[in-house]
Amino acid sequence: MNGRGRYQPDFNDDDEDDDWGDLGGERDDLTDVPGGVRLQKVLAAAGVGSRRHCEELIGAGRVEVDGQTVRRFGARVDPEHQIIRVDGKRIPARQDIVYLAFNKPPKVLTAMSDDRGRRTITDFLGDRAERLFHVGRLDYDTEGLMLLTNDGELAHRLAHPSYEVAKTYVAEVPGPVSRDLGRRLATGVELEDGVAVADRFRVLEQAGSRALVEITLHEGRKHIVRRMLAEVGHPVSRLVRTTVGPIKLGNLRPGETRDLTTKEIGELYAAVGL
Ligand code: URA
Repeated sequence: MNGRGRYQPDFNDDDEDDDWGDLGGERDDLTDVPGGVRLQKVLAAAGVGSRRHCEELIGAGRVEVDGQTVRRFGARVDPEHQIIRVDGKRIPARQDIVYLAFNKPPKVLTAMSDDRGRRTITDFLGDRAERLFHVGRLDYDTEGLMLLTNDGELAHRLAHPSYEVAKTYVAEVPGPVSRDLGRRLATGVELEDGVAVADRFRVLEQAGSRALVEITLHEGRKHIVRRMLAEVGHPVSRLVRTTVGPIKLGNLRPGETRDLTTKEIGELYAAVGL
C-alpha cells in the first residue's frame, strides 16, 4: 500500500497470466509496448481507482499515453518511461517513486545526515529504503511542510525559482500589525540581496502584543520570510510553512509523514510543467 488510493495491487499479481506481454508480441498501435503492463492495471496501481473504473476512463477517452489518447483496454504500456495522463493530469505510474509530505518539527536540520549530530529528516523516516531528496529547505527553527521524493526531476523543478511555486507561511510576530503592512509587503521590501515581494498577506489573529500573520510568496531565498518581516518591524518568533504549491500541511502532526495522493502528485507535476 503506498497510500495513493484504496486499490493498490502490485504489478506482479499472477492471477492474470496475460498481464505481461511477450517480448516478441505484435504491436497494433504506438502505445502497445512489448513486454509492457496493461494500462488499466497501471492506472489502478497508481491509485486512480479500481481496475473497472480505470477501464471506464480508458473507454471514455480520458487517458493519454505519451500524448496519444488510448481507448483500447488491452493496451500495454511502459510505466517506467511513458507519461500517462488522466483528464490531462499526469499520474505517478512508477511504483518505485515516492512522494511524501513531512511536517518538519523545529530544531531539525533540512538534510539527510549531519556530522555534528543534530537531528535530520532521516530520523523521522524509519527504515524506508528509498533515497529521498528534500524539496528546498526550511531553517533549523522553521516548522511545517516539506516535500520529500526520489523523483529528481520534480524535486529540482519545485525548488527552482523559475517555476515560481508559491509557498505559504504562518508567522508569529510582535503586534499590533498596522493596517498598511500587507500593502507594504506586496509592494516589495528592500533586503540586502534585492527586493522581496509577498503575493498575499493577511492577519490571522491579533491579541495584545502578539500577532499571527500569513504570508505567501513564490521565492525561496534563505531566511526570506524572517528577513522580510524583520525589515518591516515584526521579527518572527515562530514560523510554520503551511503550503507548497497545491500541497497543504493540513493536520499532519509534527514529525509525521504521509504519502501524497494521486491527485496531489498530478497537481504538483502540473505546477512545474511536467
Ligand atoms: N523563510 C524563512 O525565513 N525561513 C524558512 O525556513 C523558510 C522561508
